[in-house]
Amino acid sequence: MIITRAQPHHDQDLSQLDSACFTAPERWSIGSWNGELTADDRLVLIIPGLDDQLLAAATFQLVGNTADLHRVMVAPDHRGHDLATRLLRLGLEWAREGGAERMLLEVRHDNNAAIQLYRHLGFGAIAIRADYYGAGVDALIMERTLESDIETGESL
Ligand SMILES: CC(C)(COP(=O)(O)OP(=O)(O)OC[C@H]1O[C@@H](n2cnc3c(N)ncnc32)[C@H](O)[C@@H]1OP(=O)(O)O)[C@@H](O)C(=O)NCCC(=O)NCCS
Repeated sequence: MIITRAQPHHDQDLSQLDSACFTAPERWSIGSWNGELTADDRLVLIIPGLDDQLLAAATFQLVGNTADLHRVMVAPDHRGHDLATRLLRLGLEWAREGGAERMLLEVRHDNNAAIQLYRHLGFGAIAIRADYYGAGVDALIMERTLESDIETGESL
């Protein structure tokens, strides 16, 4: 299983994985994915499957000393095998090497799997944004500082 940087032609595959991972209101358009794939300050990582389908992907942004995790998604049949963990560890390392001192993310307050994943990787909640995802659906803002000892055991 390899982890590689996505290229602009992966937009359809990313959009397909996105549709398998999110409900309609939360899905990103193919235009949004194109934006991630073409912006200079992004890292989009993918784990390709045996066919054209992607098993997992994550996208990050780095601005100044702060990185953001924009999205992480793992195909439903491939969850629970550390794919998200591996993607996020590489993203954390990329951000640290690029000069980031911290990574931030926003997550739905009721997305337990994602919140547990982020805690597992050292993120802690720093704020709540009420109604961020719609009435009654708050966002948790989580942060992780980027010290120099992130060990991924893999490289791009
Ligand atoms: C959240 C998501 C990315 C996790 O992917 P994954 O590859 O299954 O996660 P990992 O196998 O790397 O899990 C690492 C840790 O996260 C936590 N975790 C992951 N899934 C969990 C779940 N369903 N329930 C509770 N904890 C969970 C556990 O602590 C786990 O460690 P453990 O296996 O030692 O218990 C995946 O469920 C997903 O794609 N969900 C839909 C998209 C989404 O909500 N993305 C996040 C917002 S952008």
